[in-house]
Order: sequence, then C-alpha cells, then structure tokens
Amino acid sequence: MPVDRSRDSERISDPWLDEHADLLQAGLTVLDFGCGNGDDSLELVERGLQVVAFDQSLASLRHARQRVPGLRIVRGDMRDPLPFPNASFDRVVASLSMHYFTWEQSIRLAAEVSRILKPSGWLICRVNRVGDVNFSYAAGREIEPEYFEVGPGHFKRFFTEESLRQMLEPAFVIDSIVPRVSTRWKKEKQTLVARATPRA
Ligand SMILES: C[S@@+](CC[C@H](N)C(=O)[O-])C[C@H]1O[C@@H](n2cnc3c(N)ncnc32)[C@H](O)[C@@H]1O
Repeated sequence: MPVDRSRDSERISDPWLDEHADLLQAGLTVLDFGCGNGDDSLELVERGLQVVAFDQSLASLRHARQRVPGLRIVRGDMRDPLPFPNASFDRVVASLSMHYFTWEQSIRLAAEVSRILKPSGWLICRVNRVGDVNFSYAAGREIEPEYFEVGPGHFKRFFTEESLRQMLEPAFVIDSIVPRVSTRWKKEKQTLVARATPRA
C-alpha cells in the first residue's frame, strides 16, 4: 500500500523503501538502525510495522520521537555489542548508517545485526558507494582501502559490490546488491542497496 507523504515536509531521505514493500508487511517488528531524523521510522510506522529506532545521537532520537509519537527509541553505539537479545526483530532497516566503521568493526557489526534478526528475518540496508564524490568519496586521509577520515574524527567507508558482499557474507546469505542513484540534500547520491537473510 502506498504511504501518504503529504504530511512529511521534513523528509530528507528519498522514498527508497518503496522498492522493498514486499518485505515490509504490517505487524512485523523492525529496527530502524541509525534512524537519524526518523524518515524511515515514520514510513515504517505508517506501513503498520512495530518500530524500534536506534541511534547514537540523543538529539536525533528525540527528534524522531517528536515526528513519530510513541516511537520506541534506544540509544547505543553500533561499535558495541547491540543491546538486544538474539532473534529480536523480523527486519533491520539501515539507511546510510553501516558505513562509518573500520573493516574489523564492520565485520563485527554485520555479525551483531545477524544475531538480533530472527532466522526468517531480513536486513535491508543501503550504504555509500565508491565514487559518491558529492558525499566525500576520496576526501581526506585514506585509513583503510575505501575508508577515509573525511574530517577531524569523522570517518566514512565507501563500498563496491564486492566489498559489501565481503562484509555481509560471513553473517548473511545475500539475496541482492543493487546500485541506486537518488537525491539527498539536493545532490545526487550513489548507494548500494543490499537485501540479506541471516546465515544459519
Ligand atoms: C547519514 S545518517 C542516516 C540517517 C537516516 N537513516 C537516513 O537515512 O536519513 C547516519 C546516522 O547513523 C548514526 N550513527 C553513526 N554512527 C553511529 C554509531 N557508531 N552508532 C549508532 N549510530 C550511529 C548517526 O547518528 C546518524 O543518525
């Protein structure tokens, strides 16, 4: 069912989840992982899912809860063990949030996301793509291959299809990885979108 976005004047993210409506049935539990201002949380609640929003930023979590009354919020750092039991969620939706980490942290993070998904669950994530020059690709010092310090203490990773596969594959069976071009802050944004299920 299409979502009514007429009230959604704050949206900064493009409606990328429309392409994943087949996995976003009402009633499912979903973690909006790195929720930011809550664009996806709002959309997922409107689709009838039971949403928990996770972020390290208290300001973002508070803002998201203002937009989405009653939204469950959890503050935490993706670099730490995630504060959820095994098999907590039917879905994890991660928009532009799983690309800030060293390779070692990224592999650990993928394992943690897999752990908190039910065996029948799905991860739907999108990450920066190599070449995304409008959003700091190759800016600053390269710390690891395709991982840059883009500002003091501010890091970004950019993925190829191959490197995204290598990050997810130890913990997930990958269904698809698809390049996507969208608009963010009025600029072209290049991403890779992955759909994956936890490895048994
Ligand atoms: C580019 S924003 C994306 C926000 C939103 N998902 C969207 O698509 O508009 C990245 C989000 O990831 C969060 N984030 C970055 N590093 C994090 C970490 N180590 N732990 C938890 N959240 C983190 C940021 O606070 C921010 O809200």
